[in-house]
Amino acid sequence: MGNIISTNHNSMKILTTLSILLNIGLIYFFVFKGSTVHSQGQETRTTITMPKEHADFTLAEMRGFLESVQQINEGILTKNAKKIIAAGQKSGGSVIAHAPQGFLKRLPMPFKQLGFSTHDIFDEIAESASNNFDAQQSQKQLNKLLNNCIACHQSYLIKVIK
Ligand code: HEC
Repeated sequence: MGNIISTNHNSMKILTTLSILLNIGLIYFFVFKGSTVHSQGQETRTTITMPKEHADFTLAEMRGFLESVQQINEGILTKNAKKIIAAGQKSGGSVIAHAPQGFLKRLPMPFKQLGFSTHDIFDEIAESASNNFDAQQSQKQLNKLLNNCIACHQSYLIKVIK
């Protein structure tokens, strides 16, 4: 009797361990890794695969980022807080609400983190300029922002799939 109980107990442990490992694996594949493929040849960046609609959304957002960066820089040069606030808000966290369905699910976790933190910095830039405008402070924040752009561009590229 005692033997059966301990055998059951052991197989429960094994099953629990297997199930935990399986879950870690599933979390890695579906949450951490996202929809990525090995990049070809000399390419060191990770390739994220996306349907055209998602790639279009991403790249349009990127072009918006560049525009906002220019506007923030112009606001710093001309000491125009309003321009900085508008540009920061335009590329801030509210953009995420307009993402196409299933968009976030396909992104690898570090990409998502960099993306969210980039939106956060845009929001921070708008907030500081609105609370207490200081051109040098805005410039510091802009520099932090640009480091995010660079970090992500060094790590990822996009490939459109059907
Ligand atoms: C989370 C990752 C990430 C961040 C952060 C990021 N980018 Fe990008 N960006 C990309 C990827 C990926 C591409 C596509 C590159 C490729 O496939 O060659 C891209 C492309 C672009 C393009 C080209 C758009 C087009 O139409 O082809 C511009 C411009 C751009 N980014 C600007 C920026 C600026 C400015 C910032 C910072 C404010 C920024 N990006 C931050 C990932 C990022």
